[in-house]
This record gives sequence, structure tokens and C-alpha cells, in this order.
Amino acid sequence: MLALLQDIYDEVEPMLGMGKVADYIPALATVNPRQFGISICDTNGQITSIGDASVPFSIQSISKVFNLVLAINHYGETMWERVGCEPSGLPFNSLVQLEYENGIPRNPFINAGALVVSDMVQSRFASPYIAMRDFVRRLSCNGDIVVNKVVAESEYEHRSRNAAMAYLMKAYGNFENEVEDVLRNYFHNCALEMSCEDLARSTSFLANAGFSTCANEKVLTPYQTKQVNALLATSGMYDEAGSFAFKVGLPGKSGVGGGIVAVVPGRFSICVFSPALNSVGNSQLGVAALTSLSERINWSIY
Ligand code: DON
Repeated sequence: MLALLQDIYDEVEPMLGMGKVADYIPALATVNPRQFGISICDTNGQITSIGDASVPFSIQSISKVFNLVLAINHYGETMWERVGCEPSGLPFNSLVQLEYENGIPRNPFINAGALVVSDMVQSRFASPYIAMRDFVRRLSCNGDIVVNKVVAESEYEHRSRNAAMAYLMKAYGNFENEVEDVLRNYFHNCALEMSCEDLARSTSFLANAGFSTCANEKVLTPYQTKQVNALLATSGMYDEAGSFAFKVGLPGKSGVGGGIVAVVPGRFSICVFSPALNSVGNSQLGVAALTSLSERINWSIY
């Protein structure tokens, strides 16, 4: 495994310097773009890493995966009445489909979808972001994971687009709680700081039919795991989902903090981190590293 990671690292490292860190969240604009790490966690919970794999970073939209799992656990199939399972083909923070489709977001990974899912979770927990933090601590076997409050506050101050989506959904009756409370919890989830090692460990249940070896816990049923992996494959990379499927062919989820998690079902989960992003907001080196992985293991879900 280490030899595989070393080959990927050596192939992709010369690209360091390409892309641009997210600056629409001011607290993320100062992150050092020249970081690159990869971790793989196999279904036995064995971790293999290279580069900056133990550096905590802002998980941003990768939190939408854990948020979705919490909602599935509390709502089961009924949650799909409030959020769809179709790719959007549009940027993650687009508003245009939401009015045409009567306040029902296309999928749980675009921002509007994650906000509805956050609203569902908010209805079930007294402190939703503490519940989420404790959930990822358990799945990662790392009790030191924290929310970066500076990042969460920075996002809240610049919340206009997300707030517009949430209020529009409220107008359509697809929002139960106070919009501002849900936004605060959503931003806290996005501002969780985890390393590649934490993220590979905490998503390993997706490669293992829903069972987390690290936490010794059944997180999802095999059927629910298939559903989440299918959503990751069709919507996890937003408007790059098609070309990611074309080049990589694995379920994946990106975040504007520069992380991408991908799943090789039955074998391992992998997290790549490099903060400079391509034009659609996915890690430039992350996509390149996963393309290289897919070629080297000569395997994809298709
Ligand atoms: O709400 C936002 O815009 C950010 N907190 C998360 C966006 C994100 O990570 C999109 N992923 N590539």
C-alpha cells in the first residue's frame, strides 16, 4: 500500500502550486496551498499514509456525508420526501433549480440539500453540532477533533447565499427550524477540522457494507451504504461528477478546504488533501491523485 501511495505522490507532487485556495470564506484564504497528503484505510481499519496526512484541515462539504448518515439513521426512507437523489449538474451553491423544483433540493450534497438535511438533524438533537462532532470523533477514534470557531464564524458572516436557499425552502414549507439556528449548526459542521487519517478512518464503513471496524459499530445497513455510495458517485463532486466518474470511477466527496474522500467498495476508503482548488471548487491535486490511483489499481465501480 505504501508503495502505491509513494507512486501516486511522486506523480502528482510536481503539480503543487496549481489551483487556488478557497477565498469566498475569508478564514480559509490564508491556508498554505503547498500541502499534500494521502491516507488509505482498509476494511480492517489498517491505515497507510504519505505526506501531510496528519495535518487537520477544514472538512467543509465532506461533513455533508456524516450529516446525511445521521439523518438516514433518524428518518430512514422518509427523508427522501424532502431531498432528492438526482445530480444537479450545477455549482454546489446554485439557487436556480430550487424555485423550479418547489424548494426540494436535487440531492443531499449541494448546499441546499445539506441545509435541509441539517434541518432534519436539528429536529432530532438538542445540540446538533456537538452530536456531529462526537459522531466523527467516534468514527475516527480521535477524541481531539474540534470545530474551528473562527472558520464557522467567518462563514456565518458571509452566509447570504446559503441563507437565501434556506429561506426559500422555508417559504416552500421544506424547513422546520429557525433558519439562523440551522445555518449556525451547518457552518459548525463544515468547520470541523480533521486530517486525511481521520477522514479515511471515519469513512471506512462506506467500503465495508456500513460497518466501521475502527469504531466497532454498524453505521448503516448494506442497502443504505449502497444508497450513500450511489449518491457520492452521482453528486459528490458537483458539476465535476461526470468527469470524475469518467476519470476516476469511484464514489467521492470533496470539500472547499481541499479534501476529497473516495471509496473503493470492499477494499478501502481514501482521503487526499491539498488546499488549492480547480475552477469548480474541488482539490486540483486531489482529483489528479485519485485519477492516478484509479489507473494504478486498474479498478473502478463501472
Ligand atoms: O457552504 C459552503 O459553501 C461551504 N461551507 C461548503 C462548500 C463546499 O465545501 C463545497 N465543496 N466542494
